[in-house]
Amino acid sequence: MIKIGLLGYGNIAEGLEEILSKNASRIKKRCGHAVEIKSALVRDLSKVRKGIPPHIQLTTHPADILDDPEISIVVEVMGGEHPALELLSDAIKAKKHVVTANKLLIAVHKEYLFDLAKTHAVKIGFEASVGGGIPLIKTLKVGLSPNEIEAIYGIVNGTTNFILSQIETEKKEFHTALKHAQKLGFAEADPHMDVSGLDAAYKLIILANVGFKVNIQLSDMSYEGITSISKDDIDCSNQLGYTIKLLAIGRKRSDGQYIFKVHPTLIPKTHPLAHIQNELNAIYIQSKGLGETLLSGKGAGPLPTGSAIASDIIDIILDGPHTGLRQVEAPAKPVTPLSIDLTHSQFFIRLTVTDTLGVLETVSRVLGKHHISIAKLIQQPVKKNTAQLLIITHPIIESELKAGIEEVKKESVILAINSLIRVGLDEN
Ligand code: HSE
Repeated sequence: MIKIGLLGYGNIAEGLEEILSKNASRIKKRCGHAVEIKSALVRDLSKVRKGIPPHIQLTTHPADILDDPEISIVVEVMGGEHPALELLSDAIKAKKHVVTANKLLIAVHKEYLFDLAKTHAVKIGFEASVGGGIPLIKTLKVGLSPNEIEAIYGIVNGTTNFILSQIETEKKEFHTALKHAQKLGFAEADPHMDVSGLDAAYKLIILANVGFKVNIQLSDMSYEGITSISKDDIDCSNQLGYTIKLLAIGRKRSDGQYIFKVHPTLIPKTHPLAHIQNELNAIYIQSKGLGETLLSGKGAGPLPTGSAIASDIIDIILDGPHTGLRQVEAPAKPVTPLSIDLTHSQFFIRLTVTDTLGVLETVSRVLGKHHISIAKLIQQPVKKNTAQLLIITHPIIESELKAGIEEVKKESVILAINSLIRVGLDEN
């Protein structure tokens, strides 16, 4: 019997317990041992926890888990940075293998934690930190490892994908959709993490490490969330044949420069990523030799996350007492990714203008001065003397695009720049 100690007992722990108990005999057959949660560290013993099985002992003392010789694997499901970091580190120092769903901890403290695990000859499983139940960490670490990864485009935040899908297909309001995502257990305790793009940025740092074997920091990358995306943006992109997704993008250019960024993106409806709805996540990987690979599945919620944690537990048991090379992360090369201002993208520009003679000439002249070429333009009347322009540009370096937009704004015929959203997957 392999006994598990939990740090935290919230909805993810409940999901893990359900997976382990419902699949007990399958798991025993697969790894040769029964697996059971023995105890869980909680903050408050008096809090009512419905349906907690009687064999799980709750404690407020970390030592009850960390010093318990029967517990060989510690799973951190408390979230947040502190005291999760200290407790996870103490578990490693106590020579327990550890599993965590905590993307912040892995993204921010990966070097420290991987080194510590190496020193103490234990394994760190973090499959649940990106993509929920999709086995993408194992796929990148092992399955795709013979191939050089050229690009990763990920829908890696279930909450924001749920909100965008609900606005698009169910015509829900942003805040109603967010509340629904919170109720279903997808959103972070502080949903600002999700909607600001920060959660996806942490996940991209982990994908950079595992996929590209490079070490990047949050300060090296640009990230944007979905708070500026309106229902009008979604409707207009639909009219143009696109859907909006929050993408985490990692790319190694042919000149060797890396690009890492998170932002809303207009994706052609014909692209497989356009069909990833609600809390589903997906990563679309381009690798040399193998070409394109799409992994998709439930990316948030107690059961998908519990499944990924259980898969790490099984992986640790399958490897036995030895620390295989699969678990010990290869030292990742520190790199400074290209500034987003120096990257190229197509842009969707939605602007409100006065509906007067020469307005299109003004817009195209000013944009043209900055080498911004228009690929598609639609003019729609809004009300008397006012029109909305929907523009898709050809690829343009971001610094020029921003300069062009600043200049367009100064023209008296321009009433508002309503939105500016990147289009498509390919960098030129
Ligand atoms: N809040 C996260 C999401 C949970 O919505 O994707 C899974 O990491």
